[in-house]
Amino acid sequence: MRIIANLTELRRVLTDARKAYQRIGFVPTMGYLHDGHMALVQASRAQSDITVLSIFVNPTQFGPNEDLSTYPRDLQRDEKLCRNAGVDIVFAPDAREVYPAGFETFVEPGELAKPLCGAFRPGHFRGVATIVCKLFNMVQPDLAFFGRKDFQQCAVVRHMAIDLNLPIEIVTVPTVREADGLAMSSRNRYLDGQERQRALAISRGLLAAEAQFREGERNVGKLLALVRRHLEKVDRLQYLELVDTDTLKPAQSPLGAPAALCVAAHIGTTRLIDNVILDPK
Ligand code: PAJ
Repeated sequence: MRIIANLTELRRVLTDARKAYQRIGFVPTMGYLHDGHMALVQASRAQSDITVLSIFVNPTQFGPNEDLSTYPRDLQRDEKLCRNAGVDIVFAPDAREVYPAGFETFVEPGELAKPLCGAFRPGHFRGVATIVCKLFNMVQPDLAFFGRKDFQQCAVVRHMAIDLNLPIEIVTVPTVREADGLAMSSRNRYLDGQERQRALAISRGLLAAEAQFREGERNVGKLLALVRRHLEKVDRLQYLELVDTDTLKPAQSPLGAPAALCVAAHIGTTRLIDNVILDPK
């Protein structure tokens, strides 16, 4: 496994790979890796010849009062996990190379960035779309892998790839959960024991609704009410919504098209998101 910080070196290594007709799979991350990230690596290894994983805590996607400065970082641990998982290249660029002095060009996503997290994190998806586009230009992968846990991020990135004619296949990987159901997240490490317990309300609510849906419940109000009962345990609910998976607009009752049941909530000071996909087909 190679660890590369410098863009010129990355380009040189990947040009050689491309000349040898190797398919390049790319897993963008902000580090502090867990099994959710590793599921993306496994998907990439299964579909590509070379897997590049980037680690970069992207400042432009954090709001002024968010956790940029405290976001967990442990490059040595991440490198070990990558080596064990069969990553070929870890790309950990320097912030000055990614955002040189005078940087002023952004990718502005449209309607898909407005609801859900977009309503509570102004500028977040602009930062995400910008960094993902930049990383795509640096790595120039054939395929790129994103986790369904960040459902709206998947939608924004997929749409950006279409709108900007990026020759990259965007692959979505199902959410990886802890044994008790909590969606894996680098931010789970902020939770103390009691908060960790309260956080289970989110996945329990979503998974209960998913079970009801599987048993035939198609009424949007009833599905939302079921989750809301569980969410009484969270400290602050930002949103609970059932949205069409393509448009992210509120789903119509009775559910006839694939929809995403999405939650964002604070447990203590930690903001967590999760979702399940309800597909009537
Ligand atoms: P990060 O939160 O590190 O997540 C990197 C990738 O791992 C994302 O595609 C995310 O959806 C996926 N992921 C996280 N938890 C997961 C889980 N439990 N199951 C499956 N996949 C999971 O998302 C970002 O970083 C950034 O916004 C980034 C795309 C790197 C741009 O800065």
